[in-house]
Amino acid sequence: MNIRDVAKKAGVAPITVSRCINDSGYCSPEARIRIEAAISELGFVPNRLASGLRSKRTKTIALVVTDITNPFFTTIARAVEDTAGEAGYTVIFSNTDEDPLKEKKYIQMLLEQRVGGIILVPAQSTPDSASFIRQHETPIVILDRRIDNFKADFVRCDSEQGAYQLMSMLLSLGHRDIAILSGPVGVSTSEDRVAGCKRAISEAKAGNLNIQTFYGPFTQQSGYDMSIKVMAKHPRPTAIFAANNFIAIGALKALQAVNVRVPEDVAIVAFDDLPQALITFPFLTVASQPAYEMGKKAAEILLSKLSNENETGFQEIVLPAEIIIRQSSGSPVKP
Ligand code: RIB
Repeated sequence: MNIRDVAKKAGVAPITVSRCINDSGYCSPEARIRIEAAISELGFVPNRLASGLRSKRTKTIALVVTDITNPFFTTIARAVEDTAGEAGYTVIFSNTDEDPLKEKKYIQMLLEQRVGGIILVPAQSTPDSASFIRQHETPIVILDRRIDNFKADFVRCDSEQGAYQLMSMLLSLGHRDIAILSGPVGVSTSEDRVAGCKRAISEAKAGNLNIQTFYGPFTQQSGYDMSIKVMAKHPRPTAIFAANNFIAIGALKALQAVNVRVPEDVAIVAFDDLPQALITFPFLTVASQPAYEMGKKAAEILLSKLSNENETGFQEIVLPAEIIIRQSSGSPVKP
């Protein structure tokens, strides 16, 4: 989409649109109203850089993540910056807090700055933001999560299989009363992890199962609140599956607050490891995502698209999680 599309929609000459957008010459009030209406209807993003750069993109890429405080995304950011830097690119980091409106605001800004390409961790599984980026002819790689009905390059970890392995472990240890604490509905990693748990449960064909599934934000507070609720149930679950590291940390804090021991009273397993540098005593049994490799691969795919503009076709890279068994999953449940 370009200035000519806006001019056609507004019924004015392209030069009038350019003067209006850049305030670089006369543009009648009537024309300005029609041009602004056309820009809004088309979702056009004006190019804010000097006209000399109009057709060129900057040697900058952007990484848009949902929670920059999460070590998983920090590791991804490190990998993207290392890979882009080696290729002579700089990286703009944006944090959306899982908020689709904030995501759209950042994407609008990045397109106006004419970034070369965008690596996006989408706040939702809908294609709105990714489609908006593509409409503005900007290369995109979707990282960590899936988007429905949108063809693109994807790099993610196999959430469904990793969750399947963790849940299968809990069932093989004899747990029958299990709480699944997941992230938000409408986010693929949250839903894929629940799906993996459910596949393990259906394959186990175990009797007298009591499985409770909860959804909430991927935050420590959510993990805490869900766990307090779960621990108040009777009978109390003997195991918890946490769909990411922050939910797991919140759950551990809640169990401690109600004097429930891990794993003696309740076993806990989680998606995502925590960087060893952050914890003195690795305790959690986890499905560890190859975060650095995911970030590196996403950056390599994007940079390859930038250097070969006629490169067509898309890749979907799905990397396995590594199951690391530690103390938190405990030993077999006494019958
Ligand atoms: O902790 C980060 C992980 O959990 C990522 O996979 C993110 O999508 C969330 O699901």
